[in-house]
Amino acid sequence: MHHKIGILTGGGDCAGLNSAIKWVVKTALDPHLARGRDMDVEVVGIRDGWKGLVDVDPADPASVEKWVQPLDELVVRTWDRYGGTNLGTSRTNPFNKKDDQSQKCLANIAGLGLTSIVAIGGEDTLSVAHKLYNLGQKVVGIPKTIDRDLNSTDYTLGYDTALNVITEEVDRLRTTAGSHNRIFVVEVMGRHAGWLALEGGQAAGAHIILIPEHDFDVAKVASLLQRRRNAGVRYDVVVVSEGAKASGGEEVYLSDKTDGFGHKVLGGIGSTLAKELERQTGYETRHVVLSHIQRGGSPTSRDRLMGRYFGISAVDLILEEDFGRMVAYRNGEFTSVPLKQAIEKLYVVDVTRQYDVERYNGRRSSLASRS
Ligand code: F6P
Repeated sequence: MHHKIGILTGGGDCAGLNSAIKWVVKTALDPHLARGRDMDVEVVGIRDGWKGLVDVDPADPASVEKWVQPLDELVVRTWDRYGGTNLGTSRTNPFNKKDDQSQKCLANIAGLGLTSIVAIGGEDTLSVAHKLYNLGQKVVGIPKTIDRDLNSTDYTLGYDTALNVITEEVDRLRTTAGSHNRIFVVEVMGRHAGWLALEGGQAAGAHIILIPEHDFDVAKVASLLQRRRNAGVRYDVVVVSEGAKASGGEEVYLSDKTDGFGHKVLGGIGSTLAKELERQTGYETRHVVLSHIQRGGSPTSRDRLMGRYFGISAVDLILEEDFGRMVAYRNGEFTSVPLKQAIEKLYVVDVTRQYDVERYNGRRSSLASRS
């Protein structure tokens, strides 16, 4: 039996994707493992996520060459050490109500002879994977998003690298903030979930951390900062999620344009907040938007390893014909969960257990908060 796996990456890029692709390929094509299987396996990469499966014309060799990349051990050998995705990505949604391309996508999957698809993505990409599964396609998912907001997995690719970027950049800002007696507001990614701000902020020793799960009071932020100055501290670092908002206010967007999944591009809360804090405290306040720097650079060892193990697990699912599932990491073990469960809700910060609403920072009790 011949098996042709198509692999794609969708949504925002991040570190760790190339490792996952490499290990899907290596595991699927491993000559030692192949001896025990009653099928021969081929792997191809689909370029630019779901866009590749919508735009490819299987009858036109030039189009196939443009959108489909044959993958083997030699091709992917060095991929795991690089950030981004060598297959490219997009926010194309074949099920977009404004321009439904799902039938074309299904026809192209058949036309390319794909017998299964590995979709590496977050909530949006995996929601498409789930719809295709419901339409009879053999799909498995691999979790990725620097926001780490996918349900039913304790890890999503890209998170650790982004966290390390935040820690490193805040460390850099701290010395210049201290030298100039400034407040620095650092805006980090995190559309609905404050994990990057909360854990990045704590790792970097930020003084105030503001997350989307809890609306903040600007006057209270100003008074917490003032209290630190009164105690003799020369500078402050405030880490704010792009999706955080002041009580009674609105989220701040860079533009009103939406992607195929209906999301607007967040951005700007850092600058708005910095102006207001300067006005209320009288201290010079600057802001920095870490933006896509958090998604760049070479993957940390954790992202390389998690990409490897997720990639291997995805091939296990395919060989076991266990489709419609996402590989996951839960309670220290690799496992899988139904795609439906992974996308039915977002995994966000539990404010009562994980956030201190008085200090606007991480909690200072750990075991006690679990009672
Ligand atoms: O969903 C992951 C994410 O990094 C969000 O934190 C952020 O809002 C969004 O992607 C940015 O997307 P883009 O790269 O398309 O601007």
